[in-house]
Amino acid sequence: MKNYNIALYPGDGIGREVVPEAIKSLDAVSDACGFKLEYTQFDWGCDYYEHKGKVVPDDYLDILSGFDAIFLGALGDPARLPDHITLRPLIEIRQSFDQYACLRPANLLPGIATPLAGRQAGDIDMLVLRENCEGEYLDVGGFFKHNREEGVAVQVALHSRKGIERILRYGFKLAEERRRHLTMTTKSNALKYGMVYWDEVFEEVRKDYPNVRADKCHVDALAMNFVRWPDKYDVVVASNLFGDILSDLAGAISGGLGLAPSASVNPQKQFPSLFEPVHGSALDIAGKNMANPIGAIRSAAMMLDFLGERTAALLIDRSVESCLKSGTARTADLGGSDTTSDMGDDIATRIRRDA
Ligand code: IPM
Ligand code: MG
Repeated sequence: MKNYNIALYPGDGIGREVVPEAIKSLDAVSDACGFKLEYTQFDWGCDYYEHKGKVVPDDYLDILSGFDAIFLGALGDPARLPDHITLRPLIEIRQSFDQYACLRPANLLPGIATPLAGRQAGDIDMLVLRENCEGEYLDVGGFFKHNREEGVAVQVALHSRKGIERILRYGFKLAEERRRHLTMTTKSNALKYGMVYWDEVFEEVRKDYPNVRADKCHVDALAMNFVRWPDKYDVVVASNLFGDILSDLAGAISGGLGLAPSASVNPQKQFPSLFEPVHGSALDIAGKNMANPIGAIRSAAMMLDFLGERTAALLIDRSVESCLKSGTARTADLGGSDTTSDMGDDIATRIRRDA
């Protein structure tokens, strides 16, 4: 029987409530499909900081490197610790494990309301593909005369040919399996080195994928178009920061971040990949058993798909869809009053029933 070792990093806030619900679905589907998942949980984050004076142990990357995948809940509790400290390990994991492709699908599912007028299920089916290792998220920069009136901060963005090329190629390959449309977004009308480089590499790479319709759109216009014509988009490739922003928008128009999954993958599988919901720790609703676990559950499905358990991944996705369509369990963000665990139970029960 196939066996996968999964590192669990529930983190802070609702991360700790949605991860156990994702495990219910994972257990149901692994029983049904005949493979085994072994979990090792790491209680890193703000609580850990209170005891140890750091959010993760010094050797956390070594620890994680031995796992088949990392499953993360959410990080951050700014009242206790500044976010750029709590969230640093997340960015380091992505960069150190060369998880250069961050996949963030956004689909409007049956039974889900969108804030956009006149749109219905199926009208939104896009995949935001975010460059996840470089761009605007580098830890390069510094302060000069920091606390003086003339203080200065410099933050360097780096866009390498290799980094741009590999994310574009990954996007084109995904587009070939989808609706064969790729949109690359930049801001090359204003950022004339880094983003013009994206344009140059795009012109070279697109020649290798003649069967994919490839176009470009500046990120400000694209934000507008996501609202006006979300049905126009299939695969959207973006730099690290633009992908971050657009994936929140894509999630919001698809019914809310509570539903949105994400996978940060190292396609070559030299390192473990990371799976996590797009949402954050949502401290305003933390501890109340009211968060929507579907973003986490769908991220678990993406993890299984990446590990090669496609049937199991589809089974989770189908059960999520049937739960949403039937409306038997709905958390507050979806207009219901059911709990996080009600929703997790409902989906796990459907998996066991339909397997
Ligand atoms: C995300 C989050 C992170 C990011 C934060 C928590 C650092 O917003 O995964 O989208 O900006 O990448
Ligand atoms: Mg984000």
